Parts: sequence; structure tokens; C-alpha cells
Amino acid sequence: MQIYINGKFYPKEEAKVSVFDHGYLYGDGIYETLRAYGGMVFKLDEHIGRLQRSAFAMELKLPLGANGFNKAVNDTIKENGLSEAYVRITVSRGPGEIGLDPELCPEPTVVIIAKEFKEYPPEMYAKGVKVAVVQTRRNHPECLNPAIKSTNFLNNIFAKMEAKRAGAYEGIMLNHAGFVAEGTISNVFMVRRGELVTPPAIEGILVGVTREVVVKLAGGLGITVSEEPFTEVQMRQADEVFLTNTTMEVMPVTTVDGHAVGSGSPGDVARRLRSAYREEVIRCLRVR
Ligand code: PDD
Repeated sequence: MQIYINGKFYPKEEAKVSVFDHGYLYGDGIYETLRAYGGMVFKLDEHIGRLQRSAFAMELKLPLGANGFNKAVNDTIKENGLSEAYVRITVSRGPGEIGLDPELCPEPTVVIIAKEFKEYPPEMYAKGVKVAVVQTRRNHPECLNPAIKSTNFLNNIFAKMEAKRAGAYEGIMLNHAGFVAEGTISNVFMVRRGELVTPPAIEGILVGVTREVVVKLAGGLGITVSEEPFTEVQMRQADEVFLTNTTMEVMPVTTVDGHAVGSGSPGDVARRLRSAYREEVIRCLRVR
């Protein structure tokens, strides 16, 4: 495995960053998770756009422009001879003296890891997954805005630990006002009387690239989508619930806190959206 660090490739065992990197010392960094199908990264421009917005929000000057990141990602996939790939871009503040001031770090560190993508077990899609609504609230946007895809991930890690303790696959986090925000690594949708509902950006979420694709695809399928706040109780009473992210695409949820959602089996809307998502991936592969 060859890892990209600041423009060069290193074998995995030799791929190292400084212990003085503020990414390591303070969680001062940002990242993106991407997925390649047949060697092509799906929605690469959108992921790079979000990386640039995250960088802007933390006043981090990226050492590469959009084209530079595009090339670096594709080079890393090629260097590793991958077709179906999981790709992670991490940009940290870089090495510098101990202290919080970002000016201590003259050069950010850019790392790109690409490895073979391991498909989720098919029974997860066939049966749906369990989620637990956790006590840990999603960061208040005025503390650490969830719209920044930050490597400062303790908020989500605490939620993940709670979910694991509850025997759930994903933890659903509420926001400061008690409305459903998002999963620890995913966005949440519910289906109510045939309509798709997902929390709006203002509720304090990471606006997922997959979420955007799914909202568009739903429109094309004639499914009404509304971005509006909903509660844990409303989610439990929904006809369907599903999660979205880059790696799992559209994942049906069949149990919330031990209660069956709808019929207790994956719903029709999630199924239709997942196949529309796959068709969209194939369409993008063809036109590239
Ligand atoms: N996570 N919300 C959070 C908190 C996330 O971490 C993610 C993605 C999403 C969905 O975003 P997207 O559709 O752009 O993948 C929502 C990635 C997969 C990760 O942490 O690896």
C-alpha cells in the first residue's frame, strides 16, 4: 500500500507524520471520505468542494487547489492499482511548536489513503440495521459547527461508543434543541406517508454529498422531499428510516431503540433510492 504524503508516495510502514503535527496534538484538521467505483471517484468535485469549505471555515490555507487534489486522489488510486476503493483525504494544520496558535504551523500536512473497498454484508441491506438514539448531543453549531468535516471527532466517537453499548450499528444524535440531527458518520432520512423528510442544514449537521444525491434522485422518482426538523418520537413512528453516506450509500434502518420501524423490514422508498443511486453511479462512470 502506497500512502500519499505532501506530494510523495511512501509504503504504509514508512508513511509517518510528525508527533508535533497539530492534527495529532489537537485534532486540528479536516478530512473527506470518498468512494471509487471502477477506478472513478463518485462526486469527487463535491467532496473537494466540501474540503475547501471546511478549510476556509478553520482558516487553513490548502497547499493544493481543486485540480491538485483531483489529481492527487486519482494518482493515489492508480499508484495502488485499485478499482473499487475507499479513499480518505486528511489535511491537518501541520507540524509546529506546542501551542494552540495555528500560526505555529507553517505547512499543512496532506495525507491520502486509498485501499480496497470492502462491500457491506448484503444482509445489512436485506434486513436493515439497528440504530440507537444516544445521549451525546451533536455539537452546537456555535461551538464546533458540524458542517466542518473536522478530524476533531470526539463528539461522534462518544456517540458511537454509546451506540455500541446499546448493540446498535449506528448512533443517532439529537441537536441542542432535541431534534434529530444525524448519525455518527451518516445522515438520517425518514419516510412519512410516502414523503421523504430529512433534517435541514440549520439543525447542525454535516450536509452529506450522498444526502444531496439522494434528495435529487427522490425528486426524479416523483417522491416529495422536505427538509424539516423532526423528533425522536416522530422518527420512531415513521414508515421507513434510512441512513446515507458515501460508503454505505442508502442503508435501511429497521429498528430504533429496539422498536421496529414500519413493517420491521426495509422499505420500498429506501430500496428504490438505493437502486437509483447505483444507476446514477453507472451513469457517471459512462460519461466520464
Ligand atoms: N462520514 N454526517 C457525518 C457526521 C459524517 O461523518 C458523514 C460522512 C455524513 C455523510 O456524508 P457523505 O454523504 O458526504 O459521506 C454525515 C464519512 C463516511 C466518514 O466519516 O468516513
